[in-house]
Amino acid sequence: MADIFGKLYIRSIRLADMPPPRDYVSTLPVVRHLAKMGELRFNKPVTFLVGENGVGKSTLVEALAVAMGFNAEGGTRNFQFSTENTHSSLYEYLSVVKGLKYPKDGFFLRAESFYNVATNIDELDSVPGFGPPIIDSYGGVSLHEQSHGESFMALVENRFGGNGVYILDEPEAALSPMRVMTLMARINELVKHNSQFIISTHSPMLMTLPGAEIYEIGSRGIKSVSYEETEHFQTMKNFLDAPERSLKYLLEE
Ligand SMILES: Nc1ncnc2c1ncn2[C@@H]1O[C@H](COP(=O)(O)OP(=O)(O)OP(=O)(O)O)[C@@H](O)[C@H]1O
Ligand SMILES: [Mg+2]
Repeated sequence: MADIFGKLYIRSIRLADMPPPRDYVSTLPVVRHLAKMGELRFNKPVTFLVGENGVGKSTLVEALAVAMGFNAEGGTRNFQFSTENTHSSLYEYLSVVKGLKYPKDGFFLRAESFYNVATNIDELDSVPGFGPPIIDSYGGVSLHEQSHGESFMALVENRFGGNGVYILDEPEAALSPMRVMTLMARINELVKHNSQFIISTHSPMLMTLPGAEIYEIGSRGIKSVSYEETEHFQTMKNFLDAPERSLKYLLEE
């Protein structure tokens, strides 16, 4: 069997210390579960983190990204900009067990601040410098001159190069269902080129990606589940199977 662990850049995370009770992060379900279980292992090249709004998925992926040396608002490790210093303290308490190999590429994407990444690229390119403009590695067209979904796909198709670690927070936010499938194909391709993805998502489509591990963050803990078992998938399936049925119940006076 191939040594899958040789290819993983992030093997596990745990809390080195518990954040103090006065810090809101200590109350987040994901942090309380992590404290109880000791370690969250990444066993596959693609890991999805799913769960209800507010359980702390974004806080966790952001802390992981910052602990890995990424800019808190997103980008590659070379991005240093900061429009708002709003990231939580969780990274200070997070211990990351890294793999043996060092990633050659990487990107932290958060749907909420992708706009700021696009602005930062335009600003950097407006200053004359050596070498080709940064935007060339993103497809050559300013990310601000494309729609949200187009600019996101330009990033994934041009800038993500393989042999990398990609931490994505709700990548589906900008995408049509067709483009979610394009994203799945691209993730699959990058995994074949020794990449690791850690993705927080609400997309039942995305989480069907074969070979991925899904961690569902619930009220009782963090559980590895199949996509059919997730609440997201079941809710969406029930709804789409018969929207009238759900709507009748929902809208009944
Ligand atoms: N600065 C802050 N002070 C206090 N609480 C905060 C602060 N920032 C975030 N929170 C709380 O942390 C909780 C977790 O937020 P987070 O964005 O990590 O959730 P999430 O699981 O990503 O949710 P979603 O699915 O909606 O994206 C939220 O309930 C939010 O209100
Ligand atoms: Mg979130």
